[in-house]
Amino acid sequence: MTPVLLAAASASIEGRQLVTAAAYLAASFLFIYGIVSLTHPDRARRGNTMAALGMLLAVAGTLVVQGLSYEWIAGGILLGSIIGVPMGLKIPMTKMPERIALSHAFGGLAVALVGVIYYIHESGFAAHGEVDRFHMGAVGFEVLMGAITFTGSLMAFGKLQGFLPGKPTVFPMQNAITFVALLSAAAMVVFLVARPASISIGVADTVFYITLGVAFVLGVLLVLPIGGADMPVVICLLNSYAGLAASASGFALDNKVLIICGALDGGSGFILAMVMSKAMNRSFANVLFGAFGSDAGPAKSATGGKAANVNEASVEDASELLKNAGSLIVVPGYGMAVAQAQHAVREIASLLEKNGARVRYAIHPVAGRMPGHMNVLLAEANVPYDQLYDLDQINDDFVNTDVVLVVGANDVVNPAAKTSPGSPIFGMPVFNCEQSKAVIVLKRSMNPGFAGIENELFVHPRTMMVFGDAKQTLQKVASELKSASGH
Ligand code: TAP
Repeated sequence: MTPVLLAAASASIEGRQLVTAAAYLAASFLFIYGIVSLTHPDRARRGNTMAALGMLLAVAGTLVVQGLSYEWIAGGILLGSIIGVPMGLKIPMTKMPERIALSHAFGGLAVALVGVIYYIHESGFAAHGEVDRFHMGAVGFEVLMGAITFTGSLMAFGKLQGFLPGKPTVFPMQNAITFVALLSAAAMVVFLVARPASISIGVADTVFYITLGVAFVLGVLLVLPIGGADMPVVICLLNSYAGLAASASGFALDNKVLIICGALDGGSGFILAMVMSKAMNRSFANVLFGAFGSDAGPAKSATGGKAANVNEASVEDASELLKNAGSLIVVPGYGMAVAQAQHAVREIASLLEKNGARVRYAIHPVAGRMPGHMNVLLAEANVPYDQLYDLDQINDDFVNTDVVLVVGANDVVNPAAKTSPGSPIFGMPVFNCEQSKAVIVLKRSMNPGFAGIENELFVHPRTMMVFGDAKQTLQKVASELKSASGH
């Protein structure tokens, strides 16, 4: 190559490096901006768009790196799109946690595979090269966390989807076995990092693949004893593991944007898991090793069944009560998501506000099936953000409220969490609905909620049960209210 051509080639490489660095910098800024914006519903949508833009920039910045085989990348994008686009379009909101669990599983597997390929290239039997201790540590951690995330998330998916029993699966010495597996996996990573020259590469390879295998088993062991009611915390924690694995991958590959993006994902997932734990009044250790709900047995018969003591009311009775309410708190739950009743809820609220009533929404951190589930649905129905109240902000106000409208919520309004030490949800903060002047509960039957236990609120003397699909009931209530006010 002539000196002129050499200079041109080197300028082109430098130019590409500059483009990559600029794209990574902008992407990192957008990720941080995005995650900060997600802390408030008002800015969350914009934050999501900004973070997605950041990801686009990070991918584009990576694609200009010298020496990539674009055919493989194009093939990967095509295959991913064929699977991902229909999945994204078809999956209903109520199945989001399952989809998120699957995304974490594939994310974890991808990171673990990147780690394996890196090992094969840099240190393993194919190259017989040497990898320095720092990079070996990063790759060991990456493979460990990635593999745990993969099988752990598949387990979470199976439990949420009903392929596996939702109740904790326990066996003798379970925690001890898990602990030994965790310790030995960590010890094997330390061995790989500290490997003296006298230990052959063949032995190191064997230890590496055993670590990978133990990590896959660990993912299963860690999620087996966790009950369905604790899945919110587990999903956040697996999200955190996936982020940490990606960050370690960034250290192994010397890719700064991956380090930043993974750390943000890992950190935010961990904080979310802590918020969720606090919302359920449980310690992490209790969630992870407590086998919560394993002795819950069949639904307790606290209510005595539908026939006894239930104050079943008609749409007309509920409409009459709502019409005269000066203040209303709406408590949405998973049933609102199933019924897609958010627009009907908003319509009722608007009609009552025209009547002069004060309407607020009480949002429980674990209502529904994913963090922020209720916020997303109510935002879709354009409910003003300043009408949404967290548990701490509104729980003392139920006592001053005329009517509480429970729309498909169950566990988050179950007084057993406060009064029954034997209940599997005992200790979880719940809304004080029973303290209000009247409660209207919209659900289809007396079936229990997610935790599988009966609810004394439904037989409370001031509660009226209106059975049926929440959306249909609310639409009927709306027409009653409209005809009463002559609209
Ligand atoms: P749940 O306790 O799950 O109760 C939902 C209620 O909605 C059920 O009792 C059901 O009764 C009713 N329902 C279902 N479809 C309906 C429809 N079309 N119309 C009217 N009602 C309907 O809900 P929750 O109070 O929101 O509590 C959430 C639970 O899920 C907690 O135990 C939480 O730990 C758990 N969880 C949460 C998450 C996250 S991250 N939020 C993730 C996994 C699990 P009927 O069948 O009688 O109608």
